[in-house]
Amino acid sequence: MKRLDGKTALITGAARGIGLAFARAYALEGARVAIADIDYERANAAAYEINKKIGDYAIAIELDVTDQASIDACVERCASLFGQVDILINNAAIFSAAPISEITRADYHRVFDINVSGTLFTLQAVAKHMVDRGIKGKIINMASQAGRRGESLVSVYCASKAAVISLTQSAGLNLIQHGINVNAIAPGVVDGEHWDGVDAFFAKYEGKPLGQKKKEVSASVPFGRMATADDLTGMAVFLASSDSNYIVAQTYNVDGGNWMS
Ligand SMILES: NC(=O)c1ccc[n+]([C@@H]2O[C@H](COP(=O)([O-])OP(=O)(O)OC[C@H]3O[C@@H](n4cnc5c(N)ncnc54)[C@H](O)[C@@H]3O)[C@@H](O)[C@H]2O)c1
Repeated sequence: MKRLDGKTALITGAARGIGLAFARAYALEGARVAIADIDYERANAAAYEINKKIGDYAIAIELDVTDQASIDACVERCASLFGQVDILINNAAIFSAAPISEITRADYHRVFDINVSGTLFTLQAVAKHMVDRGIKGKIINMASQAGRRGESLVSVYCASKAAVISLTQSAGLNLIQHGINVNAIAPGVVDGEHWDGVDAFFAKYEGKPLGQKKKEVSASVPFGRMATADDLTGMAVFLASSDSNYIVAQTYNVDGGNWMS
């Protein structure tokens, strides 16, 4: 018996990176997965790859988490194709960096729209679906070590991830009365396209050659290296499974020892 047999999962931002690793891991554990992403072409390619390699588990859905109509349509489509939604991973997010003096309102609103409002209103739409149907579901938000403390050049992204940790606490406390567990994962530094973008920001603001920041952060992780997306899948499967039924409103660090709390 696989750990997520018969379950259905909606994963936002799953066309690449960590979300895609979660989708693969869930499919391997027997769950059908909706790969929901603003990059529909890539979401389709990801679903195709899973269906070819693992079995007929994945579908792609176009989703913009900043658009309420898009969120509602995505949840409805996922429910109509799969019957219901048992698991949500709020994974879609963007990174940004700038010294305080260079932060723009436009960038602040863009980051908060995707990382915070996107997380809250996707969580709300899926929670309503779960409550209406009496589904004792699992909701997992992607936080970050960035949400645990500020960083000199990363104010807006850090604040957005601190908000995700706080929303996880409030939503967790509010929804457990319906048997819905809301928890979060706080990764440290995870190699992939996202971190290539982070590296480019630091190259610009710290005057480092491309790739230098990545080397520095890798060397400083107590575990001895950056994470791969696959290092996070064990926690994502655990939090979606019945093994986590008594866990409410928590944010788990999966960061090779970068942060302790
Ligand atoms: N990579 C890291 O080091 C790291 C560390 C800590 C936390 N995280 C968090 O983990 C999650 C996944 O990170 P990743 O490294 O895979 O990022 P990524 O940039 O590789 O993937 C993010 C995905 O979100 C999608 N997306 C962006 N805007 C969207 C929108 N408006 N609507 C729907 N989809 C949208 C993108 O198309 C992309 O596929 C994020 O929440 C991120 O903040 C990442």
